Amino acid sequence: MPRTLRIPRPDDFHVHLRQGEGLAAYARREALHFGRALVMPNTLPPLSGPESLSAYRAAILEATAGLSFEPLLSFKLLPGMARQTVLACAAAGARVGKYYPAGATTNAQDGIREPGEIAEALAAMEEAGLILSIHGEDQEAPALEREAAFLPVVDGILSSYPRLRLILEHLSTREGLAFVQAGPERLAGTLTAHHLLLSLDDLLGEGLEAHLFCKPVLKPAVHRDALRAAVFSGLPRLFFGSDSAPHPRVKKESGRAPAGIYSAPAALPALAGLFDQAGALDRLEPFLCSRGADFYRLPRPRGQLTLVEEAWTVPDELDGCVPLLAGQTLAWKAIE
Ligand code: NCD
Ligand code: ZN
Repeated sequence: MPRTLRIPRPDDFHVHLRQGEGLAAYARREALHFGRALVMPNTLPPLSGPESLSAYRAAILEATAGLSFEPLLSFKLLPGMARQTVLACAAAGARVGKYYPAGATTNAQDGIREPGEIAEALAAMEEAGLILSIHGEDQEAPALEREAAFLPVVDGILSSYPRLRLILEHLSTREGLAFVQAGPERLAGTLTAHHLLLSLDDLLGEGLEAHLFCKPVLKPAVHRDALRAAVFSGLPRLFFGSDSAPHPRVKKESGRAPAGIYSAPAALPALAGLFDQAGALDRLEPFLCSRGADFYRLPRPRGQLTLVEEAWTVPDELDGCVPLLAGQTLAWKAIE
């Protein structure tokens, strides 16, 4: 009998479902494995007000009708954003305001140059009990040093807003990890599957793999290993956010690949294999199903997802994109 792992339908606390043509397929794909997901607001135009948030939620619910899936909403913080706008986003159901440093990643040209630009919005978020989700990269620093270089900004926000709850997204370095571990209870970090599975050498060690290009860029293996050790030992305030970020194959294979990895289809089977190999399969459920929900003060996830130790080859293409680990045969699969 193959070994099986039955867990509640996991939460994905960081996903890009896009807008327009791709949305329905990406949302349905996400809903095959995940019961809830925090959807990112970096659409064009951005999700930065109550009307666009409500319309976005409706579009996702329509796309995922018949599947048990709850989108959790975030709005994009914009320079000069008013208190009233933040409170209106909260009233429309947003739980999170997302901080993108200007130019740091896909669709972040309208991002923030320094936290003073959103002082009023951050105070309003603190007042409303919203969580600040941070893409922590300093665009001025060299590519591999951007995460570490941004940590002083996060430190400044933590001290200026003593009741604000913060999440440093997609941790990719030892420095980011150590910062979260040393921080207060109101600071947490998310980890992606790809930063746990892969390193810089997978991106460019043999041939240049555009489909593995993302922000933050994959780091040398010492960083990946530190992230692995942290989740395998079950350190607190670290939980899963896939940062699944689909870009159509033609765009990824153009001369200038946009940043983003379509990881949602393979993330859970790949993580089951990774945790299993490390003898840490029992740490997977808290990573996927409880630590995030607890930090977000949400009910723990319900329903059931079954992972089974059975060979599964990741399709070469899904939804017009090349998914993470395309063409590779994994030791575990998810029963959809
Ligand atoms: C994301 C995208 O494509 O929207 N890209 C990525 O490389 N992670 C944006 C982001 O979260 O940085
Ligand atoms: Zn992202």
